[in-house]
Amino acid sequence: MCGIVGYVGKADSLQVLIDGLKRLEYRGYDSAGVAFLDGRGLEVYKTKGKLRDLQRILPDPLPHLRAGLGHTRWATHGAPSSTNAHPHHVGGVAVVHNGIIENYHELKSRLQAEGHSFLSETDTEVIPQMISGYLKEGLSLRAAIEKTLPLLRGSYALGIVCEAVPETLFAIRKGSPLVIGIGERGYYCASDVPALLPYTNKFVFMEDGQMCVMMTEGMEIIDLASKTTIPVRDKTVEISWTPAMAEKGGHDHFMHKEIFEQPAAIMDTVGEWIDNPVRLLDSLGICADGTSGVKRLQIVACGTSYHAALVGKYMIENLARVPVEVDIASEYRYREPIIDGGTLFMSITQSGETADTLAAQREAKDRGARALTVCNVVGSTSSREADAVLYTHAGPEIGVASTKAFTAQMAALTMLAICMGLGTGGLSRRDADEIISSLLALPACVKVILAGDEKIRKLSGTLTDSRSLLYLGRGINYPIALEGALKLKEISYIHAEGYPAGEMKHGPIALIEENLPVIVVASLNSLLEKTLSNIEEVKARGGRVIVVTDSPVSLGNKADEVMEVPHTHPLLSPFVSVIPLQLLAYHVGVIKGCDVDQPRNLAKSVTVE
Ligand code: M6R
Repeated sequence: MCGIVGYVGKADSLQVLIDGLKRLEYRGYDSAGVAFLDGRGLEVYKTKGKLRDLQRILPDPLPHLRAGLGHTRWATHGAPSSTNAHPHHVGGVAVVHNGIIENYHELKSRLQAEGHSFLSETDTEVIPQMISGYLKEGLSLRAAIEKTLPLLRGSYALGIVCEAVPETLFAIRKGSPLVIGIGERGYYCASDVPALLPYTNKFVFMEDGQMCVMMTEGMEIIDLASKTTIPVRDKTVEISWTPAMAEKGGHDHFMHKEIFEQPAAIMDTVGEWIDNPVRLLDSLGICADGTSGVKRLQIVACGTSYHAALVGKYMIENLARVPVEVDIASEYRYREPIIDGGTLFMSITQSGETADTLAAQREAKDRGARALTVCNVVGSTSSREADAVLYTHAGPEIGVASTKAFTAQMAALTMLAICMGLGTGGLSRRDADEIISSLLALPACVKVILAGDEKIRKLSGTLTDSRSLLYLGRGINYPIALEGALKLKEISYIHAEGYPAGEMKHGPIALIEENLPVIVVASLNSLLEKTLSNIEEVKARGGRVIVVTDSPVSLGNKADEVMEVPHTHPLLSPFVSVIPLQLLAYHVGVIKGCDVDQPRNLAKSVTVE
């Protein structure tokens, strides 16, 4: 969950590491640090706090460096402090680490018994301690690293530089994401692609068990098990993302920009398939009859992606009549999932690096399932390990709260459901065309909602003192109630719960008291009347009812406030109902003074279990 960045080259300003860290800060932000070699030896600056706190203690002007490392931390072992901040350096060896060294206690005790003294409480510090120990015994840096790695249990992406070998950067991957950037001014490593976009669009995605040795004059990737060199040219991928895509583009926050990018995210995701549903099924290795061989689908995801999976279940079951199970990834592999020849597995993940989702995907594959992934990041672990990938084209999502990735995931799942439905015959061509024309009209509908941003901001101002909110939805909009509540919790730290409206009488109704804000998604569909009854139940107990609806006339005077959305095909209503809830959470967070792009305790990619 930490972010790492590294550079080696003919000489560049330290700014290269700072820029990288700025773009990685969403991964962790409780402390930050850099270590670099500027011709005079190893310099290390690190501090508790955000990147701006690190910038305050750096030399002015920023020095030039030949090789260096940067790190932004999300604490796992050892509280956020300057001492626990990375890089950790011992005897001229500096290390940045993303992941967890599970056996660090055992290694630390052994090293302490041998006379090593430790400064930090982190798991990471054992690594430079061991490497510098082996250097003292006379090993070369590469040999010292190769002797250390097999002793480490757990997951890691590592960047290593050493005073004694001043123009070399080592990057090693086992279980945590790591990309290598090949630029004109040097070589780079980072936890993800956006960190390096200003410097290159040529990337190599490292595999587990590989080590990259980057020098001013060239680089090589070594498979550590076989000690063979991997040909870099075959593995180099050109990425179409631009640096501007990872900028705020005039918005105050990435989250706001990303909410506004949803019309494009939807269209870019469905565009390539809309005229050719058979090709979509082909590309996923699903037979053109939509299901042959596929008797059921198991979808697994975390957080917001899990909510998209719930929407996908409604769509696929409704249009293709194929049964769908949806699991939270961290639960899936501990419940002994039943996989038979007819089971198709699908993970949904924006980053493609979520540890629990990857573990579930591996579990399913180990049990013999074919694994698809719906993923936003080309070259990510999930996309490389799955048998087939359905890409969302949301562009880089930087805000910790997922917004445009969610609508893009729903768009991909809608397309899949339509294609499967056409294949199985569960969906007629006429009905498919009706949904497709509504899908094509969605970007315009979303723009109408976005134009009401200011109105939603005003409404948000009335909710900032609330201690708790309830979100209710039914059918395909039940996952939207969950998503609305999740957005509010993570961005504004106000307690919120999402429930299926029909479940209210079975417990949550006890929470309703005078003026408790209850947000209800009430779309014009077969469940609208039942939802209206739920609204009456809330009103009767003094709750303050705020309704997201495409049919204000149906409400009469039942609602205290209405957030009107354009009408669309009932199966697509989640697209329009989620947007006001994203904006509401955003504005409540901003008005409360919360750091909406980097909410407390959260990190964008949860790469540890
Ligand atoms: O990258 P992924 O889609 O696998 O991430 C899954 C969750 O960690 C993510 O959706 C998280 O819940 C977001 N913070 C929600 O806004």
